[in-house]
Amino acid sequence: MRLSLRFILPLLLALGLVAYGVMPLVDRLMLRWFEHDVGVRAAVVANTMQEPLVGLVRTKSRRKVLAYFNNITQGERLFAIGYCNPTLGALIATKSYPEEIQCKEAERLADGPVKLLSRDQGPLHVSVRTLMDGDKRIGQVVLVHDMSFVQRRSEETRRYVFYFFVALGAVVSLITVIIAQLSWRGWVQGIRALLRGEGLVRPAGRISAPELQPITRDLRSLMKELGSDFRPRDESQLTWSPQSLRGILRSDLHGEDILVVSNREPYIHIRRADHIDVQRPASGLVTALEPIMRACSGTWIAHGSGSGDKESVDRHDRVKVPPRNPSYSIRRIWLSQEEEAGYYNGFANEGLWPLCHIAHVRPTFRAADWEQYVAVNRKFARAVMEEAGSKEPIVLVQDYHLALLPRMVREELPKATIISFWHIPWPNPEAFAICPWRAELLEGMLGSSIMGFHTQFHCNNFVDTVDRLLEARVDRETFTIYLGGKPTAVKRYPISIEWPSGPEAAPSSVAACRREVRERLGLPAGHALGVGVDRLDYTKGILERFMAVERLLELQPEWVGRFTFVQVAAPSRSGIGQYQEFEKQVLALADSINLRFSGEEYPPIILKIEHHEPEQVYEHYRAADLCFVSSLHDGMNLVAKEFIAMRDDEQGVLILSQFTGASRELPEALIVNPYDIDQCALALHVALTMPSGEQRDRMRSMRALVSEFNVYRWAGRMLLDGAAMRKRKRLAGSGRAAQRVAH
Ligand code: G6P
Repeated sequence: MRLSLRFILPLLLALGLVAYGVMPLVDRLMLRWFEHDVGVRAAVVANTMQEPLVGLVRTKSRRKVLAYFNNITQGERLFAIGYCNPTLGALIATKSYPEEIQCKEAERLADGPVKLLSRDQGPLHVSVRTLMDGDKRIGQVVLVHDMSFVQRRSEETRRYVFYFFVALGAVVSLITVIIAQLSWRGWVQGIRALLRGEGLVRPAGRISAPELQPITRDLRSLMKELGSDFRPRDESQLTWSPQSLRGILRSDLHGEDILVVSNREPYIHIRRADHIDVQRPASGLVTALEPIMRACSGTWIAHGSGSGDKESVDRHDRVKVPPRNPSYSIRRIWLSQEEEAGYYNGFANEGLWPLCHIAHVRPTFRAADWEQYVAVNRKFARAVMEEAGSKEPIVLVQDYHLALLPRMVREELPKATIISFWHIPWPNPEAFAICPWRAELLEGMLGSSIMGFHTQFHCNNFVDTVDRLLEARVDRETFTIYLGGKPTAVKRYPISIEWPSGPEAAPSSVAACRREVRERLGLPAGHALGVGVDRLDYTKGILERFMAVERLLELQPEWVGRFTFVQVAAPSRSGIGQYQEFEKQVLALADSINLRFSGEEYPPIILKIEHHEPEQVYEHYRAADLCFVSSLHDGMNLVAKEFIAMRDDEQGVLILSQFTGASRELPEALIVNPYDIDQCALALHVALTMPSGEQRDRMRSMRALVSEFNVYRWAGRMLLDGAAMRKRKRLAGSGRAAQRVAH
């Protein structure tokens, strides 16, 4: 089709040109040439006639003159001759003489321009010459030439011109087709070769033009950029949901099941006297990953830490969850008391946790804890091997408890796609270097295909740390680390929450929540209420928060008795001395502040150190006028995002520490430095007096962000990146196989 078009189009163009441009031009040119020729010829004839005609005129015989004229017109191409001379009477003319040229006209035309008379057979050429007898004018000779031959000749010429242009058109068409074919093939081959990095391809098919390599690289990176430009656009058109996540698993990961590995399990079974309760632990990690597993199915490998956990599993240590609508399995790992003490309390929470958080709590590293940490990581890794349904499983490794596991899995399953996520901050190289097992930890993590952090700052810190402490190649352009030639991509994936909220979050109306929560807390309707929701952890800035409440009451006494701050604090890591100590400090501070303002009917602080199920937490978010997140250092902090999600009334103010990952995404919150107590007190006052319109504007904008950047997007981006790496690895593998065959 394309070929025939390329041929016919130039041909048609050529013919069109002939019909509308060339032919009339040819006619005009021919006429002009022949007119000139005939004019010259007429002059020659007139000169030749001069003498004999003068002689005849002198005889004054009209008959003789006419006979002479008839004689001439027979042999020549002369069509007619006429002669005007008043002394000889009327016009003397041969038979075919045109009527239009009478003597008056002849006089006018004498020695002047030629006249053309049109006839059906072709034009007549009329030229008039004055006949001179010496110096005397003795009349006008009219010579009429037949120019019908011009028409015949120009018809002939037209035919030739037509044939010529048809031939020309055909040749041009043919050349066009050939050139197009040759150049297209050449380009395609050339571009393909360039993209393969071969420069110009020789028959042997190997690289031949090293000088083209930079162009190849540029071209490749350009295409990569175009691809990555396209992806975000593509993503922004995609609303991230459980369905889109399932779609990725089906299309990009060929329906492969995913394995999540974390220390903390999403559902804990608790043995009561006559029954077993199921609890959802307070953990950012669980908040984020549980909806992902509900969407994707698969298996979640975690420490079975609940007193009723052993009774709830099958003979493979598995239990289907969520209890009301099971859609995935928990595979539980059992740890002895020693293991838990060394690996969880010791190395993970007394060592790595304070090491990674700048909360001015000194990390403690013990060799015995390290040994347990290694052993438990191996235990989890073995479970991954057991649960993996193929040699290329997708394993999502979570957090600082399992830093060694990626490498352990990689050694057994080299083709696995291991995506690790570090839920807490990553410190700078100097801070991390104090860990005696720093190299082992980094090498363990670099068994991952992808190493994810919440913020770019943490990614930078990690890359700097590896660069400083390991013999690894760090490519800062692509943020890829090569350890022993094996790549790990270091990437930022800001974690988020389920949006829209899950089935358990079907809270009562805001008005009902406000009423019920105040009633339960013994506060009157309309009493100003602030809320804080955290694990009882020294990184959360709970003490600083209470100090800010106290300062508010000092600076703005109108709030005394009119404002209460309720702190929901989930007991956490209570086996660790630092946490026990911290709990004491929090209790003591709350008591002292309440004592200070004890003259009032309503206390400034209500502290609830107990486990709250998510529904109870959501109720508090909806009941409050403000939520205060004052972490001293936090990877992301999902409480901030949950509070926003729960405020579909677009009211309520978020006060957010600048040391959380969330503060990068939520500038519409009141951003504070939790160490600056006066600033925090002022923020509390601003929040409590903020007009409803401003609350709505801020909340609306934060809700828009969290709804778009939800947890499905977080997981989806990691899975898509994992799928892309997998594909690249397979292609590289098949390339190597092809090379082996070729050799
Ligand atoms: C942080 C950690 C999580 C952990 C959670 C609760 O969010 O990053 O890994 O699960 O705290 O701590 P816990 O020690 O109770 O699991």
